[in-house]
Amino acid sequence: MATKTSIHGAWSSRWAFILAATGSAVGLGNIWKFPYITGENGGGAFVIVYLFCIAIIGVPIMMAEIMLGRRGRQSPINTMHTLAIESGHHPGWKFIGILGVLAGFLILSYYSVIAGWSLAYIFRAGAGAFTGQTPTGIEAIFDSLLGNPEALLGWHTLFMAMTVIVIARGVKHGLERAVKFLMPALLILMLILVGYAINTNSFGKGVSFLFNLNFSDLGWGAILTAIGHAFFTLSLGMGAIMIYGAYLPKDASIAKTTFTIAAADTMIALLACLIVFPLVFENGLKVGEGPGLVFVTLPLAFGKMDGGVFFGTLFFILLTFAAWTSAISLLEPVVTWLVENKGLKRVTASLIAGGVTWLVGVLTVFSFQKDSPIIFSFKFAGEQKSNGVFDILDILTANIMLPVGGVLIAVFAGWIMSREASRDELEIGDGHTYNLWRVLVRFISPALIVIVILKLTGLLDPIIYLFTPIVDMFRS
Ligand code: TRP
Repeated sequence: MATKTSIHGAWSSRWAFILAATGSAVGLGNIWKFPYITGENGGGAFVIVYLFCIAIIGVPIMMAEIMLGRRGRQSPINTMHTLAIESGHHPGWKFIGILGVLAGFLILSYYSVIAGWSLAYIFRAGAGAFTGQTPTGIEAIFDSLLGNPEALLGWHTLFMAMTVIVIARGVKHGLERAVKFLMPALLILMLILVGYAINTNSFGKGVSFLFNLNFSDLGWGAILTAIGHAFFTLSLGMGAIMIYGAYLPKDASIAKTTFTIAAADTMIALLACLIVFPLVFENGLKVGEGPGLVFVTLPLAFGKMDGGVFFGTLFFILLTFAAWTSAISLLEPVVTWLVENKGLKRVTASLIAGGVTWLVGVLTVFSFQKDSPIIFSFKFAGEQKSNGVFDILDILTANIMLPVGGVLIAVFAGWIMSREASRDELEIGDGHTYNLWRVLVRFISPALIVIVILKLTGLLDPIIYLFTPIVDMFRS
């Protein structure tokens, strides 16, 4: 049986954990990524699928991850190892943790570059660069940032350094305190921006785009993107929430905690869309613009509104903080593993992990340079991608590694761990809720994910073909 507390520390209360986990969940995924993938995938129908994925796949798997973390109390790799042995299975299950640490590395490498855009925009906004600009002018500002590798590299380096510093100091100090003020501030500022969007003539158009029910164009690729994003936005599938769970007091309710985090995360993502889409229509921009969407629409609004310099600067400061609290959770699993298994000091482990991630991030910097050799176009699941290595990293991690990691976590929690152990750890009072959770992690979530992955790899149709004679037999 694992120890009662982790060697890396503990949260001071259930609320501290909620804040930290919400800080991990709410990040670029909500404000930068969700609006642009919703735009690329046609709006409402995609949003509905995404909300369904959060409820049916995200919530139960988040409960599973927190539960495993709290029971193992170590880095994800060692937690999986310990729990596999505890339940009499092969320690090879620690492979889930290894896959996760790898995914975390790859995600953070590009996450840091995008967070660098946000850092750069603090100063653009502060200098009044957006004031009175036309849509073309704003796009030119964005393109000139992307076309400047030295600047991108500089901001990426600064952001990685900020992440390493917090991790090196330990999660409890600084992080807990910072999140307490910054998250509410971000929410208030976003509500102000929604107020601005409501007053444009295109608010209705934005809302109807966000909630249209046009399922006809929704392909399997979009469905996989929705599943992948449910993992990405809730920080699931790679052990980030698992390691945060390792610092959770034993008496906290995992179910209640999970609902709070998932609700907060979803609200921020929807608010971001309520701000972005009216502005897109108002200014004649393209919804399918891609990764630059928020960095073009929001500055336009800041350029026009009263006090735009102030609100714009504040917004990018808060976005950077949201990204910061997420980046920390991407690095924490590997650092704890280096400390546990390689005997490194926390500071050394943070520097090494941060340094390697920084190096991989350089690839993303060059993915946005028009004439660089690593920028190329390709098609994935029927969608055209044009940012080379950045798109590959994004698809590989968010659309493949996180869902696969999630299936494995669900299978582990539902099939490998004993009923007694999960029941004891989750401590859900009434049997119905527990049974519902167990059905979701044992059958529903893994099945949904596997079906979509099989469909996209072209393996689903032959399987259906094999089963048709059997189905026909029952029909006749
Ligand atoms: N959830 C964060 C966001 O939406 C990103 C993130 C942090 C993440 N930790 C993670 C994504 C772990 C996947 C796995 O911006």
